[in-house]
Amino acid sequence: MQLLTSLFCALALPSLLVAFPNAPFVANKQWIQDSTGANFTYVGVNWPGAADVMIPEGLQYQSIASIVSKIKSLRMNVVRLTFAIEMVDDIKDNGGDVTIQKAFTKALGATNGEKVYQQVVKNNPSFGPTTTRLQVFDAVAAELGKQGIYVHLDNHMSKGAWCCSTNDGNTWFGDTYFHTEKWKRGVQYMAEYGKKWPALVSIGLRNEFRKPDQTGSSLAYNWATWYDQVMPTATLVNKANPSLLIFLSGLDFDTKMGPIATGDDLGSGKKFRLADYNYTNKLVLELHNYQNSATNCGDMEGGLWNNGFRATGDKAVNKMPVVLTEFGFSQSGDDYTKTYATCIKKLMPQWKTGWTVWVLSGSYYIRSGTQDYEESWGLLNHQWSDWRSANAINALKGMIDASLKG
Ligand SMILES: *[C@@H]1O[C@H](CO)[C@@H](O)[C@H](O)[C@H]1NC(C)=O
Ligand SMILES: *[C@@H]1O[C@H](CO)[C@@H](O)[C@H](O)[C@H]1NC(C)=O
Repeated sequence: MQLLTSLFCALALPSLLVAFPNAPFVANKQWIQDSTGANFTYVGVNWPGAADVMIPEGLQYQSIASIVSKIKSLRMNVVRLTFAIEMVDDIKDNGGDVTIQKAFTKALGATNGEKVYQQVVKNNPSFGPTTTRLQVFDAVAAELGKQGIYVHLDNHMSKGAWCCSTNDGNTWFGDTYFHTEKWKRGVQYMAEYGKKWPALVSIGLRNEFRKPDQTGSSLAYNWATWYDQVMPTATLVNKANPSLLIFLSGLDFDTKMGPIATGDDLGSGKKFRLADYNYTNKLVLELHNYQNSATNCGDMEGGLWNNGFRATGDKAVNKMPVVLTEFGFSQSGDDYTKTYATCIKKLMPQWKTGWTVWVLSGSYYIRSGTQDYEESWGLLNHQWSDWRSANAINALKGMIDASLKG
């Protein structure tokens, strides 16, 4: 009997080891690998939760489970879930996280806020008057994990709002709402908090740094400042949760990461060297691309390579994985047939690189002051009930399949 039990355990163990989530992940040269050592290519979608209400979008139309099932049906393996630092500021400084009921009322007004809250609860009956925003993030992360999809957290904004412009006060360290110390606290808090989400594998420290229109009290907009602010914060986040991959995003709306790949002088003799960090195997670069009017794929390829994808090349000084965490286009016309979309569809599998498309949302609770905002770039329709365009989704499926083939 004893022998049989041991035998059974020995046989059962390997199958346990290859079960989801096979975390934590590591960066090994230009590859991201799961805990079994297998390459893992991020293939996923952005699910915004960083706008005014600071709750993952779409829940007034569908249940979390049904939205996650849609993502799953495409065979995507990760969701880039965005959050705002303001949510953490409320938790730390303003008496705790607010209930979703209050969050909707605050952002949408008493009448509409209550109406939307009631719709959210109707679709998601486990929520109620005591549910907080972070508990909705818990539920989203849990359902993603249940359906075998990884979570990548992204700090999208400081103040909860639509992102991004050069005058939204969230552009750069010291901008109106971009309080550097609160940002550092917020990303550490979420990294630590996320330990209770088994599906969480990575965190993006900050979405789309950009030059503020008015410099005001912000620090000088350059790579030296980036280096002085971002890398110590990466170290703090690594201490807060050593399992997570840490995604570093670059200048000019995260379109530039060139000098990080090449190890060039960032100013004042500062140079990024992967070997300087004892969590080298946790660092990943992320880039965004919105060259939607491109007419030449070769030009796009050269630009993307020089702006950071060269980190994945054999000759890179800092050889690192690069993930294209944002690109996207209108889902309502034939944009999926045009140069921009077809070029990215070709390049990502060619470079064996990961990506998350912008955006899942068919609509937003509120965007830039408009409630129930229609998102024509959304993969889903306004009611989050079906894909916006069967043709565009079929094209995307082709890209998913090619990327998963590795
Ligand atoms: C990861 O993928 C690359 C490129 O296909 C391959 O050379 C490498 O051997 C793979 N690594 C593993 C552990 O499979
Ligand atoms: C990395 O270095 C820091 C000190 O800077 C230390 O606290 C930490 O334990 C080190 N981690 C590892 C994995 O060696």
